[in-house]
Amino acid sequence: MLAGKHIVLGITGGIAAYKAATLVRLLVKAGAEVQVVMTPNARQFITPVTLSTLSGKPVISEFFTANTGQWNSHVDLGLWADAMIVAPATASTIAKMATGVADNMLVTTYLSAKAPVFVAPAMDLDMMRHPSTVRNLELLRSYGNHIIEPAAGELASHLVGKGRMEEPENIVRVINDFFEQSAQLAGKRVLITAGPTVEKIDPVRFISNFSSGKMGFALADECARRGAQVTLVTGPVAINARQPGVERIDVVSADDMCKAVARHMADAQVVILCAAVADYKVAVMSEKKIKREKDEAPVLQLVKNPDIARMVGEQKRPGQVTVGFALETDNEEVNALGKMERKKLDMIVLNSLRDKGAGFQTHTNRVTIYHRNGDVIAGECKAKTEVAADIVEEIVKMLK
Ligand code: CTP
Repeated sequence: MLAGKHIVLGITGGIAAYKAATLVRLLVKAGAEVQVVMTPNARQFITPVTLSTLSGKPVISEFFTANTGQWNSHVDLGLWADAMIVAPATASTIAKMATGVADNMLVTTYLSAKAPVFVAPAMDLDMMRHPSTVRNLELLRSYGNHIIEPAAGELASHLVGKGRMEEPENIVRVINDFFEQSAQLAGKRVLITAGPTVEKIDPVRFISNFSSGKMGFALADECARRGAQVTLVTGPVAINARQPGVERIDVVSADDMCKAVARHMADAQVVILCAAVADYKVAVMSEKKIKREKDEAPVLQLVKNPDIARMVGEQKRPGQVTVGFALETDNEEVNALGKMERKKLDMIVLNSLRDKGAGFQTHTNRVTIYHRNGDVIAGECKAKTEVAADIVEEIVKMLK
């Protein structure tokens, strides 16, 4: 998968910089074109001559080449790249990338890069677990960058803990898998519902729920990253999809969401129902604001909203894959399996509000995936983006 790919390898000033030589060699051996960009400090740890010899290209380190005055364009480099890897990534460079401190060629290239970015941190264990590093890595993740977690072991300080840069072989495997995945859903249309729905009571009040939309948006990005054409029907949320291949349709109520899904479902090979649809709406919305001066509190008559997942299940055509979610507080497995049956889903993703780090508003989730054929995959608590990758992996298997 790496043959002919353009890789910008950013190297920063840490002892693990010596491993960058192996990384360049492996990338070149796999057929990639590698352009090394070093921070000034990195040159204290490994020489540009070693890296330019291995990559077959002059190493870039400064904004200008000293003797010719030639300007090194970070913009061109950012556009040239099919992927950028920062390995090793020190705490300082991670902080600069997180906050946009563009005082060297590596960070300016990073800010100009349109391609996916992989970051392989390497530092002492205490630096690694310092709240600032943890927060900066979280920020990089939130920009859609991929963090290649460091391994635990003996560090340069002779302390033992998490902070060793991942081995070059494993970094290359991650990049290779990434390119392999990016074609998995090519030519497929995926329809996703996300976020809450909002049911108006009167012009100022509504019924809704705490859904942030993060899980549905992470799924939309993950499907688009793997080459799918994604239609994302979302209730009111405060977030955006990151991938360009996502067509977003904004709706407010369950009725609107249902109509949008009905319009788009026939074209989709995969339908993922991730929205937290409000189960009820008021029977009649008041056109005017309901006033409180009356002695008695008003009684709202509620009626059921359409069950979008059920409609999809009923209209499903052969070969179409449908995936639902179940957010439960009790009797989790029985409830989830019941929903898979009733809504004729091929797969249901269960999250329990009893699990720490799962559910609404969090960045993380912990899910169990149930397949119609009886397979069960229990997951750990992970970032929603990683949970999305696990779910899409199962969808890809089903499509095969
Ligand atoms: N769902 C839907 N339309 C609805 C209700 C739910 O499409 N009106 C979908 C959700 O997106 C989810 C699945 O159905 O994929 C299960 O949603 P959930 O709210 O857990 O189930 P309900 O059927 O609403 O059951 P209950 O509220 O009784 O748990």
